[in-house]
Amino acid sequence: MVWCKMSIILICSTVLLIGWVLTLDQALWTTSETRHSCNWTCMILTLQWPGSFCLSLNTKNICKIPQNIQNWTIHGLWPLHAHSCCSCWRIYHSHLQELEPELSQLWPSLLKSRSAFTFWKDEWYKHGTCAACMENLGSPQYYFRTSLKLRMLFDIDSALTNADIIPSCNTSYKFEDLHSALAPLLGDSSVLQCVKDEKEREVWVQLKIYISKNITLGCHKQEKKQALLIAKATNTSSGHPCPPNTTIFYFPIDYVHPEQPCN
Ligand SMILES: *[C@@H]1O[C@H](CO)[C@@H](O)[C@H](O)[C@H]1NC(C)=O
Ligand SMILES: *[C@@H]1O[C@H](CO)[C@@H](O)[C@H](O)[C@H]1NC(C)=O
Ligand SMILES: *[C@@H]1O[C@H](CO)[C@@H](O)[C@H](O)[C@H]1NC(C)=O
Ligand SMILES: *[C@@H]1O[C@H](CO)[C@@H](O)[C@H](O)[C@H]1NC(C)=O
Ligand SMILES: *[C@@H]1O[C@H](CO)[C@@H](O)[C@H](O)[C@H]1NC(C)=O
Ligand SMILES: *[C@@H]1O[C@H](CO)[C@@H](O)[C@H](O)[C@H]1NC(C)=O
Repeated sequence: MVWCKMSIILICSTVLLIGWVLTLDQALWTTSETRHSCNWTCMILTLQWPGSFCLSLNTKNICKIPQNIQNWTIHGLWPLHAHSCCSCWRIYHSHLQELEPELSQLWPSLLKSRSAFTFWKDEWYKHGTCAACMENLGSPQYYFRTSLKLRMLFDIDSALTNADIIPSCNTSYKFEDLHSALAPLLGDSSVLQCVKDEKEREVWVQLKIYISKNITLGCHKQEKKQALLIAKATNTSSGHPCPPNTTIFYFPIDYVHPEQPCN
């Protein structure tokens, strides 16, 4: 009997305590940052092609392509319509020690003045802190590990090679051919981004892959449509959706003159 009462009291106080902690927690969140809510439903995994990356910059000579980089690299994993959710969630270089060999290969900084860790740190604050409300993205380690896993799952490099789409200055490719080379991997869940070079050629520079909140390929139609509209309306440095009715260049990587791979 006594034990019974005791346990009821214990349960009650535990419930009260949990309630108090939750309330406190929420209060902390809302006062420190406002855009923290986990109401996003779709993410974009953005990959960049080192062969044309420098063409996408306004100042073309600030980039570098390390010799060990031969494949598509990660730009970031971005929840849609959410960014910079919490500057209070610090990231330290030591957090990424275990992942660093893979990150260096698959998520390098391609800017001379920016260290790899600075790039990762920026991506974490801007995008990772918003993604972190999900279990598999819930810390710097989880966010970067999941991003690497996705990058490895989508073996773009092999898919293109197998379809005879190889980087070249001389040959351009039809949009449909690029699209169908990727279709077995990505279905309809990707967008090719291009930049125009000084010779007015459309050059493939990025690949955006839609990933659902539960970390599976693809997002709802509505989300994709919205993202595409935003991409079209903003001609950012990262380019515009590749026009489907033109031929598209896929430039080789020039490690010596990355800013003019095909002049
Ligand atoms: C998500 O929350 C933010 C901030 O509370 C709000 O501005 C935005 O409209 C919400 N988005 C959706 C899709 O509900
Ligand atoms: C590039 O990708 C191909 C195909 O997946 C792979 O065989 C190769 O090891 C990768 N090279 C580097 C340097 O990562
Ligand atoms: C492009 O063509 C030139 C000759 O016109 C040749 O030297 C070069 O190897 C070709 N490059 C590629 C990537 O095919
Ligand atoms: C993941 O989410 C998408 C979109 O909301 C849904 O269609 C799909 O069934 C979900 N997959 C899993 C494994 O939960
Ligand atoms: C974006 O850039 C493309 C290619 O340079 C150009 O054709 C298009 O008109 C631009 N769109 C906007 C909205 O500025
Ligand atoms: C491609 O289509 C757009 C609009 O659909 C048109 O403005 C443009 O002239 C076309 N370009 C070519 C090369 O056919």
